[in-house]
Amino acid sequence: MRVVVLGSAAGGGFPQWNCGCAVCRLYWSGDPRVRRRTQSSLAVSGDDGRSWALFNASPDIREQIGSTKALWPRDLRDTPICSVVLTNGDVDHIGGLISLREGARFQMFATPEILGILGSNSVFQVLSEPLTPRKAIHLEEPFEAAPGVTVTPFAVPGKVALFLEGGGNLKTDERSGNTIGLEVKGRDGRVFFYIPGCADIDAELVRRISGASLVFFDGTVWHDDEMAERGVGTKTGRRMGHLPVSGKDGSLARLRAAGVKRAVYVHINNTNPMLIDGSPEARAVAAAGYAVGHDGMEVEP
Ligand code: MLT
Ligand code: MN
Ligand code: ZN
Repeated sequence: MRVVVLGSAAGGGFPQWNCGCAVCRLYWSGDPRVRRRTQSSLAVSGDDGRSWALFNASPDIREQIGSTKALWPRDLRDTPICSVVLTNGDVDHIGGLISLREGARFQMFATPEILGILGSNSVFQVLSEPLTPRKAIHLEEPFEAAPGVTVTPFAVPGKVALFLEGGGNLKTDERSGNTIGLEVKGRDGRVFFYIPGCADIDAELVRRISGASLVFFDGTVWHDDEMAERGVGTKTGRRMGHLPVSGKDGSLARLRAAGVKRAVYVHINNTNPMLIDGSPEARAVAAAGYAVGHDGMEVEP
């Protein structure tokens, strides 16, 4: 399999267009220790790059395709992108679908919950049958996302999309088709996990990823209360459905304890100091043997 990180940032990207937090400010001032990052998406091929599945379609997809030669058309009105698999319904993961209109042929795979979001927003009718069929996927039922790429979706602790939260009692760590992870298997038998949004690494998730050779994992915030610390918001990471990286219950410690051999952080929020090359936080990730993902990063499963 070939795996390329198309976008490594969380919703809003890095730097975020309207943000002057300490990390974004480094970018705006030209500091070479931070690099631009687009919103969360991964491209996977199981046939040596002939066809590709996109895991999530970010609002930055046009730019991501532009900077990824493997995804360029090879003929008149052509794309090697054969499918899009959605892992939740937030704007950073579905917004790019709208840019994929123009009469291309590809399949959309999503849980009934996420298909419900697409179905109830008429703007997504720009993508319609028969060119772009919407296929329902079901938890724990494997499907072929692209030739040689078998995906098993599974629920992880999470919540509904931000724009569906409403005002009532919100469960931020429920398991449902609203937030899924993907177990991805190639023809060569290699397996990796893609989990860009996850509120907790609990015993059930530990069982699944235990000893995994490669996990792409939610790197939204370093500290649970980072948004407040940085003065840009009041929500904690967990409240947003994102387990923080640091701390004794954070993802870095939990992934290590689960024996995960390689982890690559994706879906990184603009406030997260691990975005700064050489920062203590970036060094802590490297010291654990893991990586802070960046756009264009190709990872061998
Ligand atoms: C998130 O992952 O928390 C969302 O991307 C929030 C958003 O839509 O901005
Ligand atoms: Mn997101
Ligand atoms: Zn910022």
